[in-house]
Amino acid sequence: MYLSRFLSIHALWVTVSSVMQPYLFVWGHYDVCKSLIYTEEGKVWDYTACQPESTDMTKYLKVKLDPPDITCGDPPESFCAMGNPYMCNNECDASTPELAHPPELMFDFEGRHPSTFWQSATWKEYPKPLQVNITLSWSKTIELTDNIVITFESGRPDQMILEKSLDYGRTWQPYQYYATDCLHAFHMDPKSVKDLSQHTVLEIICTEEYSTGYSTNSKIIHFEIKDRFAFFAGPRLRNMASLYGQLDTTKKLRDFFTVTDLRIRLLRPAVGELFVDELHLARYFYAISDIKVRGRCKCNLHATSCLYDNSKLTCECEHNTTGPDCGKCKKNYQGRPWSPGSYLPIPKGTANTSVPALDYLSNCECFGHSNRCSYIDLLNTVICVSCKHNTRGQHCELCRLGYFRNASAQLDDENVCIECYCNPLGSIHDRCNGSGYCECKTGTTGPKCDECLPGNSWYYGCQPNVCDNELLHCQNGGTCQNNVRCACPDAYTGILCEKLRCEEAGSCGSSSGQGAPPRGSPALLLLTMLLGTAGPLVF
Ligand SMILES: *[C@@H]1O[C@H](CO)[C@@H](O)[C@H](O)[C@H]1NC(C)=O
Ligand SMILES: *[C@@H]1O[C@H](CO)[C@@H](O)[C@H](O)[C@H]1NC(C)=O
Ligand SMILES: *[C@@H]1O[C@H](CO)[C@@H](O)[C@H](O)[C@H]1NC(C)=O
Ligand SMILES: *[C@@H]1O[C@H](CO)[C@@H](O)[C@H](O)[C@H]1NC(C)=O
Ligand SMILES: *[C@@H]1O[C@H](CO)[C@@H](O)[C@H](O)[C@H]1NC(C)=O
Repeated sequence: MYLSRFLSIHALWVTVSSVMQPYLFVWGHYDVCKSLIYTEEGKVWDYTACQPESTDMTKYLKVKLDPPDITCGDPPESFCAMGNPYMCNNECDASTPELAHPPELMFDFEGRHPSTFWQSATWKEYPKPLQVNITLSWSKTIELTDNIVITFESGRPDQMILEKSLDYGRTWQPYQYYATDCLHAFHMDPKSVKDLSQHTVLEIICTEEYSTGYSTNSKIIHFEIKDRFAFFAGPRLRNMASLYGQLDTTKKLRDFFTVTDLRIRLLRPAVGELFVDELHLARYFYAISDIKVRGRCKCNLHATSCLYDNSKLTCECEHNTTGPDCGKCKKNYQGRPWSPGSYLPIPKGTANTSVPALDYLSNCECFGHSNRCSYIDLLNTVICVSCKHNTRGQHCELCRLGYFRNASAQLDDENVCIECYCNPLGSIHDRCNGSGYCECKTGTTGPKCDECLPGNSWYYGCQPNVCDNELLHCQNGGTCQNNVRCACPDAYTGILCEKLRCEEAGSCGSSSGQGAPPRGSPALLLLTMLLGTAGPLVF
């Protein structure tokens, strides 16, 4: 079942050629929520705010009573007329349809005579308070568009609170207090909605206007939506645009008229006199013949219709939005953050269409180093893929590791990144800083780490000097080669040629008493030279 005027020109979209696409993209978010109307000037588009029509919301609610067994008639009981304690021939009997007063009768068709109504049990247990909570739940956010009107069959309660929830009944806020004596009942000064203004419109008041007991003719209690609208739209709501302008910009105001549940807390029945007549407690009870709640599905201005299916209301979202209230962008349409549409029709308002991540990609900025972007759902962001020219980053705006920024090149220059060229032997890794400086190992220096600090010499990277011609002389006639090693005469060994080769071998002071190095065969000598520090020679 649709609760809407459903206006859309989706069919038109299909026929549009791709050549027109850029033009239509610009105007794309204007294409729903308008209809062709016939005027004196011919056919013209009439733009409307994207919202379902206001309707009778009592058709879609669930009602719950607390205490659950508070409805009269089980067991059957008789009750007296409110105004006449001696007229007690009325009977409530839940098992007899004509005498039953179940809660559904608050929402049935009115205008029948006698009227049908829900009725509570009587105040038999006085002085224990007779209290009832009537909870109306929609399981859906709705926006109220007209006064809430509660019609009592008996007298109007002495004390009552109308409450609202915005979170499906988890938390509740008072909407309005009603009492014959506000100060006594709620410690509040009595006020009327007419005492409010644009600035105080959100104030929660206690009113005595609707609680004068059964002695007056009126049986009705209002929660005044229209009077509150009138602060913005003028006395006869002529200037709705002004109200809509306010609603567009003020979330608090929007929220004030938004509910998921309403709760009527009946705190004390009509007594009508100063004291409760304890001899005739069957005079006191609550009876409600009708509750009117007009409103519309809240779809955040992104839907013109609301579907009622499986006893559940759901917006039929447009503008590539989704969710029960069109409260978020569809998957792959998070090209920009979600926001509500506008109460004002186009062209004054905006549809705030969710744009496909793909359309956003046409702005895909990669400084010419890539022509492809990708939408990352998790981060809700768009990034360049396969950045060329040694660039990287969301917009290819950074240099790959091992490259640094060419200060004289623009971001879109092919030469924007220069290789670090860190010397692989002299540097810790292949990355450099913004001016191309590499990180050097100890003893190493230079932007590329290919030079040695004093006291070091290059030998597969910088090594601390072994010998030089100043302090670290090679001894016994050895010569210093590139500061990294001494080339020793045959008989000597050690880093600085400081040791006799025979000492090393433990063969110098032999029993022959010879002080000179042993003379081996030329072949043995060659072997010794090749082995350098040879092991002990055993003869
Ligand atoms: C009505 O609801 C209020 C708030 O949750 C609770 O304190 C109170 O006991 C309820 N009254 C009845 C009669 O269930
Ligand atoms: C939703 O997105 C589709 C592209 O997937 C586009 O054709 C259509 O016009 C969009 N709807 C609106 C209202 O922007
Ligand atoms: C959404 O709508 C508001 C109010 O109409 C407007 O100020 C805002 O610029 C819109 N945002 C986008 C992204 O169109
Ligand atoms: C830096 O960019 C400029 C301008 O494109 C270019 O002429 C120069 O060769 C680049 N430097 C290097 C080291 O690539
Ligand atoms: C790179 O390192 C060198 C040497 O440490 C330093 O002088 C230079 O300021 C650094 N450049 C940047 C951009 O950090």
